[in-house]
Amino acid sequence: MLNRLEGLQLIDPDWVALRKEFPSLEKISYLNTCSLGLLSNRCRVATERYLDLWLELGASAWYSHWMDEMISLRAEFATLISSEIEEIALVSSISAGLTAVSSSLDFSNRYKVVTTELDFPTLAYHFSALQPRGVETIIVPSDDGVTVDIERLAKQVDEHTALLATSRVFFTTGWIQDIPALSKICKKTGTLLLVDDYQATGQVPLDIRKSGIDILLSGGLKWLLGGPGISYMYVRNELISSFQPTATGWFAQRDQFSFRVDSREYKEDARRFEAGTPSVASVYAGKAGVSLINEIGVENIRIRTLNLTKQLVEKLYGNNFSLRIPLDLDRHASITMIETRESRRVVEQLREEGIIVDSRPGGVRLSPYFYNDEHDIARVVSSLVGIREAMPEFDNSKRL
Ligand SMILES: Cc1ncc(COP(=O)(O)O)c(C=O)c1O
Repeated sequence: MLNRLEGLQLIDPDWVALRKEFPSLEKISYLNTCSLGLLSNRCRVATERYLDLWLELGASAWYSHWMDEMISLRAEFATLISSEIEEIALVSSISAGLTAVSSSLDFSNRYKVVTTELDFPTLAYHFSALQPRGVETIIVPSDDGVTVDIERLAKQVDEHTALLATSRVFFTTGWIQDIPALSKICKKTGTLLLVDDYQATGQVPLDIRKSGIDILLSGGLKWLLGGPGISYMYVRNELISSFQPTATGWFAQRDQFSFRVDSREYKEDARRFEAGTPSVASVYAGKAGVSLINEIGVENIRIRTLNLTKQLVEKLYGNNFSLRIPLDLDRHASITMIETRESRRVVEQLREEGIIVDSRPGGVRLSPYFYNDEHDIARVVSSLVGIREAMPEFDNSKRL
């Protein structure tokens, strides 16, 4: 297993000590990071620090601490993806980031947006809602329910395509797309590659420059351990000045504190995509999360989660569960979908046993992270075996 990842650095973090950073693990087995990452001690302390500053300083906390914390979070995220800090903006959600992007685009000649059936539906919702602005959204289907064929995608991208908008990791199947190959397809026609990286940043290494990504959106909720309310936007340096978002506000303005209504000039860097006052609590929580990931190292996390995923898949197949996952482990992120029509009932029964996973239509989704261990894997599989025995409807051959 490890030699598949030979190029990656392994400093062997103290995984046992790291588990202690997440007090929930004393009470529950948690295999649901792809919905919500667990609360760390560091995150709680950081959030309390924000409250203390509010209490002690009132509005002057903005100037003495909070603005600096935003800069520091942007720097931390830039380190994570190997970008420049100027290429990073803080937004409240992926949807807010998408709004900033599409409000900047002229869709008159490039009127098409290509996305896929396996992407999180926010992409399709967002772009199909732009139909009144002339946007045509093309949703490329999946043949196997796990992956999307790159040739099928390539056929849809042409000189009228504004964006190829897709994920690095699909949220139900854990498939890791070949982003450099998608970038090559886009470059042929001058199409921008926008990546929804919510299910990848933190768990699968990324060197943004080498990837060819033009715009990346990710957030704190899941693998970046920062909770809701904070998302991250990368826009490639060379593109920033060509974007003039109409979804804007005073945080995007170069001279934010001039309070002049008669002049308006965007910040030169990616902060031009920010709009209004951010959730500062989420900025503190977000930085606690991203800094922890940077300290552990995404390469180390990938090695760890790949090992856990391998154990999980072997045990599940060993017990004849039907899985909807990539065939190649190297292209499998830490999301494993077990097929069953009874996913909600199964999730509920696991919850009663103190095991937290989640359901998506047609399946139970398990997503181990670095704070899980082999006992969590053994426990969830053994519980699933017991639940299935008592539930004849568990197995189904037809996919929903
Ligand atoms: C891949 C992916 N994109 C986007 C979202 C949600 O985006 P938003 O921040 O707009 O709620 C999720 C899940 O919450 C997701 O899994």
